[in-house]
Amino acid sequence: MNAVRFQVADTVVVLTVEYPPVNALSAAVRAGLGQALAAARDDPAVAAVVIMGGGSTFIAGADITEFGTEKSKALPSLSDLQETLEAFPKPTVAAIHGTALGGGFELALTCHARVAAASAKVGLPEVNLGILPGAGGTQRPPRLVGAATAIDLITSGRHVGAAEACTLGMIDAVIDGLPDEAIAFARDLAARGELPQPVILRDDKVAGTDPEVFAAARRTTAKKARGKIAPMAVIDCIEAACTLPPAEGLAFETRKFRELYASDQRAALMHYFFAEREARRVPGLAAQPRTIRSAAVIGAGTMGGGIAMVFANAGIPVHLADISEEALARGLGTIRKNYETSVCRGSLAQDKADQALALISTATDYADFAQADIVVEAAFERMDIKRDIFTRLDAVMRPGAVLATNTSSLDIDEIAAATSRPGDVVGVHFFSPANVMKLQENIRGKLTSDETVATVMALGKTLGKNVVLARNCDGFIGNRMLQYYTGEAEFLLEQGATPEQIDRVAEQFGMPMGPIAMRDMSGLDVAMMVREARRATLPPGERFSPVVERLVERGRLGMKAGKGFYQYEGRNRRPDPETIEIIEQVSRDPGIERRNFTDEEIEFRLFAPLVNEGSKELEDGTAMRAGDIDVAWVNGYGFPAHKGGPMFWGEKVGLARIHEAAVEAAQRNGPRWGPGKVLERLAREGKGWADA
Ligand code: CAA
Repeated sequence: MNAVRFQVADTVVVLTVEYPPVNALSAAVRAGLGQALAAARDDPAVAAVVIMGGGSTFIAGADITEFGTEKSKALPSLSDLQETLEAFPKPTVAAIHGTALGGGFELALTCHARVAAASAKVGLPEVNLGILPGAGGTQRPPRLVGAATAIDLITSGRHVGAAEACTLGMIDAVIDGLPDEAIAFARDLAARGELPQPVILRDDKVAGTDPEVFAAARRTTAKKARGKIAPMAVIDCIEAACTLPPAEGLAFETRKFRELYASDQRAALMHYFFAEREARRVPGLAAQPRTIRSAAVIGAGTMGGGIAMVFANAGIPVHLADISEEALARGLGTIRKNYETSVCRGSLAQDKADQALALISTATDYADFAQADIVVEAAFERMDIKRDIFTRLDAVMRPGAVLATNTSSLDIDEIAAATSRPGDVVGVHFFSPANVMKLQENIRGKLTSDETVATVMALGKTLGKNVVLARNCDGFIGNRMLQYYTGEAEFLLEQGATPEQIDRVAEQFGMPMGPIAMRDMSGLDVAMMVREARRATLPPGERFSPVVERLVERGRLGMKAGKGFYQYEGRNRRPDPETIEIIEQVSRDPGIERRNFTDEEIEFRLFAPLVNEGSKELEDGTAMRAGDIDVAWVNGYGFPAHKGGPMFWGEKVGLARIHEAAVEAAQRNGPRWGPGKVLERLAREGKGWADA
């Protein structure tokens, strides 16, 4: 089948790219466009050309699946097509619906004009893949919107709605009827006789740009991008667009693109892109998802309120339930404030906030939401409370409703056993704040039905979350691993590292907050409680560093008490000599030798145990794929996507090294830290997760 349909509408030719699912610029599409453009150029009866996408979208970019393959080198290249378009003797119009992203929008930028449906979005999201828009995507946009706006658009990679794109000058018109209005637009251009100047030759928006624009952008981007190299390279290229002639600017962009393409960050982000999409798939699951049109959330605290917002933001009416009117009023008040903040910040339009709020109603009686399609329990994290709620839900909810718990670690099977319908019971674990964090960790109990699993996996997409599916076990995918990261941080303290060094290393690595500061934020008393519960289930020989206990004894409960590992003024942390004294005492008692650590040692010691525990999750089926673990950690814990996730990082540093570290950790910390069988085998055979 030809990837480009050629249709004639009177004197205008309409070229429709037909390459599902997203009309990516594959070798087949490029070949089709090349042939069709040549035919349209050479036919004297053709006065103008419209390029559009078939199905639900325009061209969503280069074909990522062809990157690095022979197909990506097949001619014509994207820049060949762009040269053809810029030299085209008849008007060309890109008619955009759905999304015009990356190479798709770059192609459109070489047409004489761009028109878009009101619902369309355009953007250059390449930085999310660790590259930059290397087909003139850093050279042409500044010529339309100016350097400062181009920097904002391309370093963030954000998708811009048609109305804004038109105001900014990225497109020429917002139209109603595609393709008819686009055809009329092209015909008008042809009638004018004179072709618009190619974007690459315009310079009124770039000439004389103040160099401070770039200096300021570098300062803010260095902070925001936190170690990502692509956004900084984008600024260099946009500066080149403003200071060099077009051909030199394009050549500079090509050099920068090649550098980024060869980088580890590109490999990591590309891995992550596909992992995120793969994580939605459950091999062997044939059941159809049930439709979710209404929801209820039990518990109007921070978590429950956040989850209610998630449903409302997706347009799903939701009942927020709690035991008292006061609790509901408090919960609703917080939700209202959250929406107000978003509106003030400009990240949400007032009418969208109003629409979402109108979808949230309150209830103290379960009978009020008995007809809901799903109920998510987000009550206090205690088994007796959860079982009681599920027994009551079982009594009132309509048959076929999904009964979900947002527990972060409790046994789903024990909760399900409190009902007469364990097939409908499932874990749906959101991360705090639920309306912000992108992870939805679904947990399958022993008796959870295929249909229930299919429903909550599909629900993730509706809610705009990235989903992973975990098997029921203590801590599921994410929290099960977390204890090794925070635990190793405390062992490092005993051995001589300081809280500041550990947090600095983790934050330079790309974590939003270091493990020690994170402990302070969630509360050291809470950490102690969780640990005590866990200690009871552990085999002999397991050590916990007593540093948290010693701090709690001195009233250092964390940020909420103004002191924990650090001392605080508001949220600002400062090192505290008392903490160092306490830690030194903790080292002295059992005679642990203190020493200096390099940053590299700390980085490896912090993250290697994550990889080992992740390998054990693959071994016992808690996680289906290494990529799912990466998706969980990037979206739930802020692991930097440009490092690909902990499992990708582990494979990069070498599984043999991770294995060796686990053997050592077991000697130091206890047998639980020892290497898993899968890791042992892969390390021995020199293989990666694909062979797990
Ligand atoms: N190439 C190949 N396949 C792509 C693709 C691309 N550019 N973009 C999406 N797909 C595939 C996905 O892998 C997915 O496949 P499966 O169903 O087999 O998993 C399918 O299309 C649908 O994608 P989503 O599930 O993400 O669907 P969505 O509707 O939620 O989102 C989208 C659609 C907004 C286009 C989103 O997929 C997206 O953001 N894609 C990436 C766009 C992008 O980064 N483009 C730039 C590419 S790089 C480039 O163009 C370089 C250059 O300068 C030349």
